[in-house]
Amino acid sequence: MTRDKSCGELRESDIGSNLSLAGWVFRRRDHGGLIFIDLRDRSGLCQIVFSPDIAGDSHTNAHDLRAEYVIAVSGEIRKRPEGTENPNLPTGAVEMYVNKLEVLNEAAPLPYNMEEAADTGEALRLKHRYLDLRRPEMQQNLIMRHKIAKATRDYLDEKGFLEIETPMLTKSTPEGARDYLVPSRLNPGHFYALPQSPQLFKQILMVAGMEKYFQIVKCFRDEDLRADRQPEFTQVDLEMSFVDREDILSLMEEMMKKLFKDVLSIDIETPFQRLSFHESMERFGNDKPDLRFGLELKDMADLALKGTFKVFLDAINDRGMVKAINGKGMAGLSRKEIDTLTAEAQSYGAKGLAWIKIKSGFESPIAKFFSEETLKKMAARLEAEEGDLMMFVADKPKVTYDVLSRMRLALGERLNLIKPGYKFAWITDFPLLEWDEEESRFQAMHHPFTSPMNEDIEKMLIGNMDDKEMLSSLKAKAYDIVLNGYEIGGGSIRIHRQDVQKKMFELLDISDEDAKMKFGFLLDALQYGAPPHGGIALGLDRLVMIMVGAVSIRDVIAFPKTQKAVCMMSGAPSTVELKQLRELHIKTDVPLE
Ligand code: AMO
Ligand code: AMP
Repeated sequence: MTRDKSCGELRESDIGSNLSLAGWVFRRRDHGGLIFIDLRDRSGLCQIVFSPDIAGDSHTNAHDLRAEYVIAVSGEIRKRPEGTENPNLPTGAVEMYVNKLEVLNEAAPLPYNMEEAADTGEALRLKHRYLDLRRPEMQQNLIMRHKIAKATRDYLDEKGFLEIETPMLTKSTPEGARDYLVPSRLNPGHFYALPQSPQLFKQILMVAGMEKYFQIVKCFRDEDLRADRQPEFTQVDLEMSFVDREDILSLMEEMMKKLFKDVLSIDIETPFQRLSFHESMERFGNDKPDLRFGLELKDMADLALKGTFKVFLDAINDRGMVKAINGKGMAGLSRKEIDTLTAEAQSYGAKGLAWIKIKSGFESPIAKFFSEETLKKMAARLEAEEGDLMMFVADKPKVTYDVLSRMRLALGERLNLIKPGYKFAWITDFPLLEWDEEESRFQAMHHPFTSPMNEDIEKMLIGNMDDKEMLSSLKAKAYDIVLNGYEIGGGSIRIHRQDVQKKMFELLDISDEDAKMKFGFLLDALQYGAPPHGGIALGLDRLVMIMVGAVSIRDVIAFPKTQKAVCMMSGAPSTVELKQLRELHIKTDVPLE
């Protein structure tokens, strides 16, 4: 059962040799006397031919082969007859004339046609993931993922990083999502948390003198899922001692350069563009801008104030804003199409969408509220010309940014503005603290271990909760790395002083007791000579998704979960036996199945 070559390796240089191959039957075609089979293994497809004149038995048995049977064959490699070559296949110039066939295993009738996998519902493909992963696209994705992880390890190893594992059964870390909990049998009523990230442990490794740590590591977050979010996902997590922000940024830029070169043979430009959080919000409405196209948001408040449109004036008076984008060439849209756009904006949370067409003059229900001069200034600011459609949202900043950033992306696609390629950016100068209206307290914008900027440390130490404005203005030494509109990583320089860390907990309204209970071990460690340190974590799934051109991280994870956090293949999560629950001292109010 040894094979001489892989299916995808056959080339013209093999013509005349007798070889053996093994793989799966992908496609079978009976052509009169000849039977053609596309034989597939991980390396690709090749064509094998059964002829009644060469080995009668094998030819007869080939009639019984069905899709996904596993076979071994041997025979002579021949040049394909003139006109039957397949230039789309690397093996397309040759074919094997089989003289021996061995069926290694049969396959049950398939739950769906593998040739039409791309049009098959994802749920069915996830249930039979072992079949789905046989698809060349999926195999390619996992091969690329392996290469990216390998290049990452090689790079970090070269830079002196040690890969060190951290526990999976651990204490909850405050990364902002809900924890997955694991009950402890030996300690009734006590729970481990699966790590949302190894944040605390990697900092403690710095206190422990490891200097450069990394880990390609599973993280777990119980949050609402989307195409770029999974309940368990993988980080390239790293931490370094005796560094400042610039060291981490340049380490990452060099690493990205290497990954793109090694894996995709693409040269990417460094240094990456940098945008402050504030600038990114103002220009793109979010902190993960897709820089492959323009269509930037423009502030219109000053011009809105020159008119009498009540919606705009009310929004501004109510601590809101008026911002606009330019729908290039969209003045031809019908009233109905504009209503659809408005509904889209409303589905993102806007109260409405005001618009002005530039169509031999300004055409709009709201044009009457503004002077010709103001309308012209609006157009100039948006670089809008004849044929364009100016669209405005007036609301609180959060809504305005959110709606327009999503409209921008939707229009970028609709208008085909998004250029192929890879646009990286660093987002820096994040606020340290973010006021949470609902809970009426500050939250850490990144996480509670992020250092304020040097110039803000003293201000922070003397800050008190009455001075919300000052506290909101403190900036963090945090940075996110963004690629093509996705946040592919985030990190910060950490607090290494115990007094600063304590103050941070105080501002976050985390009591001494709570801090002790939750992060006491970190606070303890910080007293024993913690070096200045910082790091970053890349979302490996997202990075791979973008590098392979997939639309969902599910396509680059071997066994992903659905939006409802279910593994369609194994059926997890599932009920367990009462006995197991009893051992764990757990009662549930959901009836057991
Ligand atoms: P952060 O929470 O920003 O930082 O996470 C780092 C990166 O991980 C990816 N990511 C995810 N990918 C898929 N599914 C998810 N549910 C998911 N959540 C996050 C993102 C994100 O940028 N401990 C800090 C890092 C540090 O400060 O060093 C942390 O975890 O691409
Ligand atoms: P109205 O005066 O409410 O009929 O609204 C006139 C136009 O303004 C319509 O096109 C609405 O979609 C739009 N509009 C209403 N509220 C807002 C808002 N908050 N921001 C932008 N446009 C709005």
